[in-house]
Amino acid sequence: MSMFAAERNEVMESSGKDVVILAIESSCDETAAAVVRNGREVLSNVISSQIALHTLYGGVVPEIASRKHIEKINQVIEEALSRAEVTLAEVDAIAVTYGPGLVGALLVGVAEAKAIAYAAGKPLIGVHHIEGHINANYIENKELEPPFLCLVVSGGHTHLVKVADYGKYEILGRTRDDAAGEAFDKVARAIGLGYPGGPKIEKVSREGNAEAIAFPRAKVAENAYDFSFSGVKSAVLNYINGCNMKNIPIVQADIAASFQKAVTDVLIEHAMMAVEEYQVNKFAIAGGVASNSVLREGMREACEKRNVQFYHPAPILCTDNAAMIGTAAYYEYLAGRCDGWDLNAVPNLKLGER
Ligand code: KG4
Ligand code: ZN
Repeated sequence: MSMFAAERNEVMESSGKDVVILAIESSCDETAAAVVRNGREVLSNVISSQIALHTLYGGVVPEIASRKHIEKINQVIEEALSRAEVTLAEVDAIAVTYGPGLVGALLVGVAEAKAIAYAAGKPLIGVHHIEGHINANYIENKELEPPFLCLVVSGGHTHLVKVADYGKYEILGRTRDDAAGEAFDKVARAIGLGYPGGPKIEKVSREGNAEAIAFPRAKVAENAYDFSFSGVKSAVLNYINGCNMKNIPIVQADIAASFQKAVTDVLIEHAMMAVEEYQVNKFAIAGGVASNSVLREGMREACEKRNVQFYHPAPILCTDNAAMIGTAAYYEYLAGRCDGWDLNAVPNLKLGER
């Protein structure tokens, strides 16, 4: 445990008071609310997914996402409070994702959180979405404390991060083009699997041969920790075009498995490079792609080989949810940080910018 964390925990223990946070997340296509006690105890975690709706269009339609959030948000919050058996009066703070994400979608959550916090006289805490994903690791891994390294792989982000302390992040590498999840979604569409691509590629890959097609593993010259996934995506498209021109039948499962292997190999290789350079003995993964079992098993094996403790959230806490926002907000709350009524949605918010 870091000195900082130890001191703070002592303060909380001596006061003996629980901290209960109502958290809201609406940055993309899930309307979510959760009640979290003392950062790591999830009393409720309600997620209303719009996936079925966006599937009709092959991806998230921002305007539809915002409208659906407006329709669902009150109901989702009421359900979160009722499942947790907590009244608004018993809540210590209201937390909300304020970026990055779709601006219209974020605005629904931010406006809602501000209205509730103002009406109930509670502090308001704006949370960075990626910080939420990283903090999802604390929920089931009660012993996990910074410092550790974390690979954040979602539909919008691919970041290799050093978590120096609660709320303190150093970005070692990031994607130069597509995010890992975005590459899964685009390749899934190209091979006729539809949206969302990640889980579908993972499923058909089980029937395929991951060594069947040699897709490229891109390296970025200027920073060895950076990622690039547009090349592997183009290679898949070229491969499909080549097969079509030569009248060779396409084996969907082999393409899926070989693509999945190419992406996860690069993620694991970069992660292990960082482990060796930074000599940190704890490694966590986060974000939607972190629920991928090939990535998890590959990371677990690579970590075990190096005597590094490997952490990951349960799949339901990997994809977007509000419990992770409540956890991140708890550490902000302990640090005495909250926001004013001018909190706004910031679609391109950078990690550690606050
Ligand atoms: O974290 P998330 O729910 O939303 C963002 O913040 O982006 O991540 C969604 C992304 C999508 O691109 C989805 O295809 C991907 O995570 N994903 C997966 C899996 N489950 C979700 N990718 C690979 N394998 C999975 N099992
Ligand atoms: Zn996310």
